[in-house]
Amino acid sequence: MKLAIRYHSGTGNSARAAALIGGQFSALAWSVDVREIRRDLPDACDGVLDADLLLLAFPALGFSPSATMVAWLRGIPRKTGGEAAIICCTGGDYAKGSSIGGWGGDAPYLAARLLRKRGWVVTALGEASYPVNWIQAMNPPEQSYAREIIKRGDAEASAFAAGLAGGSSANPRESLARRVSGAVSVLFRLAGRRFFSTLFVADATCTSCGWCARSCPAGAITMKKGLPRWSLRCDSCNRCVNLCPTGSIQSSSVLIGLHLVAAIILAIAAFAVPVPESFPGYARAIARILLIALSPVLQFSLVAPLLGALAVVNPFRRVFSRSFMKDFRRYRAPGFRP
Ligand SMILES: Cc1cc2nc3c(=O)[nH]c(=O)nc-3n(C[C@H](O)[C@H](O)[C@H](O)COP(=O)(O)O)c2cc1C
Ligand code: SF4
Ligand code: SF4
Repeated sequence: MKLAIRYHSGTGNSARAAALIGGQFSALAWSVDVREIRRDLPDACDGVLDADLLLLAFPALGFSPSATMVAWLRGIPRKTGGEAAIICCTGGDYAKGSSIGGWGGDAPYLAARLLRKRGWVVTALGEASYPVNWIQAMNPPEQSYAREIIKRGDAEASAFAAGLAGGSSANPRESLARRVSGAVSVLFRLAGRRFFSTLFVADATCTSCGWCARSCPAGAITMKKGLPRWSLRCDSCNRCVNLCPTGSIQSSSVLIGLHLVAAIILAIAAFAVPVPESFPGYARAIARILLIALSPVLQFSLVAPLLGALAVVNPFRRVFSRSFMKDFRRYRAPGFRP
C-alpha cells in the first residue's frame, strides 16, 4: 500500500506532523512518499495518482491554507474516488499551566472542498495544535512552553494517523463558525498576506546571505543589491522572519504607520473626488464604488513598492527597522532545516 504525503510548512510544524504520520504508516509496512509543496517544486503532483491514500498537511494561515497550497490544490490531478486525508496544523499557546489549542477555521474544509472538486473523496480531516509562529502578530511561546505544545501537537497528529490507519473516518461536520471564518480566509488570501509582506525589512544585521530568498516556499523574495525585497506573492507563512540565521528580518512599526496614513488619505480621496453631476444616479454610484475599490489597488501597486524601494536605502532602512517585534522569540520546529 502506498501513502503520498504532500505538505506545506512555514516553520516546520506541518513538516513534523507529516513526518510523524509517515513514520506510523511506514511501521505498518506502507510505502511512504513525502514531498514539500513549493512554488518552485512542480513535482509535488507526481506520484499522487498511483497512491492508495493522499495525505495533505499544512498550517492554518488566517483560517485558510496558504495561497500556494490553494493554487496547488486547484491544479492537482483529477482522481475520481481517490482517497485523501487532511491534517491542518494550528497555532497553540500556553497559559495558566496548560496548553491552549489553535483553531484552523475554514482552512481544512476549504482544502477538502478543492479536493472534492477534482474528484477526490476526503475520508478524514483533522487539526493538530503546535506552537503559534505568527511572530508578526504575537511573541511565540517560550521554549519550555513550546515543548509542551509540541507534545500536544504530536499526540493529536499521532491519534489522527492511528485512526486513519485503522480505517475510521474522522470528518467532523463543518460548523457555522468555520463557514463564517471562510470570509476572513478569502480576505486574508486576497489582501492580508500581501499586506503583511509589505512590512518586512532586513535590518543592519543582515549579512546578505540570501538564505531567505532561496528558502521562501512562495518564491516571494528576491535579493537586490545584497538585500531581500519582498513581493506580493508572499503567503505570510512567517518562515523567513522566524528562521533568518541572524534574526535580521523585522516587521516594521514605521511602515505600519506609513501604510495607515496612506490608506486614510486614499480612502478620503475616494470619497472626495467629485463625480460629474451630469451622470445619472446609478452611474454616479458605480463611479463612486470604483473609486473606493481603487484605493486598495493603489495602496498595493504604488504605495507598497515605493515604501519597499525606500526600505533598502540606508537612512530609510535604519528608520524602517524600528519594530515592535525586535525582541520577540523566533520559532522553529525542533530539527526543521528547510
Ligand atoms: C499569518 C499567519 C496566520 C495564522 N493564522 C492562524 C489561524 O487562523 N489559526 C491558527 O490556529 N493558527 C494560525 N497561525 C499559526 C500557525 O498556523 C501555526 O503556528 C502552525 O502550526 C504553523 O505551521 P508551520 O510551522 O508548518 O508553518 C497563523 C500563523 C501565521 C504566520
Ligand atoms: S535577511 Fe537574513 S536570511 Fe535574508 S539575506 Fe539577510 S541575513 Fe540572510
Ligand atoms: S516571504 Fe517569508 S513569509 Fe512570505 S512566503 Fe516567503 S518565507 Fe513565507
